[in-house]
Amino acid sequence: MSDKVVLAYSGGLDTSVAIRWLKEKYGLDIIAVNIDVGNERDFSAVRQKALDVGAIKALVIDAKELFVKYFIFPALQADAIYEGQYTLATALSRPLMAKLLVDVALEEKASAIAHGCTGKGNDQVRFEVSINALAPDLKIIAPAREWGMTREETIDYAQQHNIPIPVTVASPYSIDENLWGRSIECGVLEDPWVEPPEDAYKWTKSPDRTPDKPAYVEIGFEQGIPVTLDGQKLDGVSLIQQLNELAGKHGVGRIDHIENRLVGIKSREIYEAPAATVLLQAHQALEAMTLAKDQLRFKQKVVQEYADLIYNGLWFSQLNRDLSAYILSTQRYVTGTVRIKLFKGNSSIVGRKSPRSLYNLSLATYDKGDRFDQSASVGFIHLWGLPVRTQAQVQLLGDKEGPLSIMGHKEEKKEG
Ligand code: ARG
Repeated sequence: MSDKVVLAYSGGLDTSVAIRWLKEKYGLDIIAVNIDVGNERDFSAVRQKALDVGAIKALVIDAKELFVKYFIFPALQADAIYEGQYTLATALSRPLMAKLLVDVALEEKASAIAHGCTGKGNDQVRFEVSINALAPDLKIIAPAREWGMTREETIDYAQQHNIPIPVTVASPYSIDENLWGRSIECGVLEDPWVEPPEDAYKWTKSPDRTPDKPAYVEIGFEQGIPVTLDGQKLDGVSLIQQLNELAGKHGVGRIDHIENRLVGIKSREIYEAPAATVLLQAHQALEAMTLAKDQLRFKQKVVQEYADLIYNGLWFSQLNRDLSAYILSTQRYVTGTVRIKLFKGNSSIVGRKSPRSLYNLSLATYDKGDRFDQSASVGFIHLWGLPVRTQAQVQLLGDKEGPLSIMGHKEEKKEG
């Protein structure tokens, strides 16, 4: 009996070729594992294809619920966005896939795990760092990094070995998708001056072809987790699927990002993330209402680290545990409802309410019912400005260069 390898199988060209290649080159028996994180495929066809190409076993694992509960929602509670743009769909899915692949490998007593990543991206790092953390004795094989074939050569190889070439090969793009978003790379997109052609997008309508009437949606959160859409209770997977549909129909969630990969390359990435865009926006709006100023400021620092950690493949670190504990703690009162308007590619917050709101009308109002004591501001300003006043006397007035220099300041004339 030959050794077994568990292959992360997508059904695409590279991983199909990998089944054959692993057998030929290493004499391994291949167990193909397809992990469903919401990537809209015909999974039974994918499974059958793995067997046809030569896998001894092919599994499909529905990981949508796990993905939402343990990856997407924590990232949402954190407001995790990489470099201010990327909502981290692919990055979040990799540690989950690694965990499930390791489980299968141990169960099947396989000696190795294989994945289809090239040597230029982040995903190889995320997979391998995670697998090594969970099962240091498993070998890792990355066929596409080893075989040195161009895309043309890979297609030739497939033809020679009767491996069916998926229709997606006709697509000029490299695509990854899951519940939290879709990423599109390669082809004309590699020129950062070129506007992405419409055919790069699948989940979002072009704003010039979206409905002429706006849609409104109300999202209910409990402790930072979205639980209702328009008052209707929904499980996380359905809620995200419905929002992807609705916001996508209104053209919301297109992102064009020049991104800094972990391996040092800048790459141009197009994303479609309708649900993620709307949920992150709504969540932040609710936090603005329920967290104090200092909490919001401190959380931003934590989130910066947390988003980088996710992007950089360090999910299974204790830093993750520590930051997550802080983030979770911030969500105690992030409960309430946010109303969003979707129109012509934009989503805007148009209403928010919370039983734990810190917004206080009798403090904020300029109308009657005002309970803010305006006379207290005099003393407040006196003390708040004390250090600036003191410093200005000694260091600012008469200074030719500082903040005053461009303004032609005339020194105050002293009388007498
Ligand atoms: N640039 C994104 C990331 O690093 C998306 C990667 C998409 N991966 C893929 N194999 N097509 O997370």
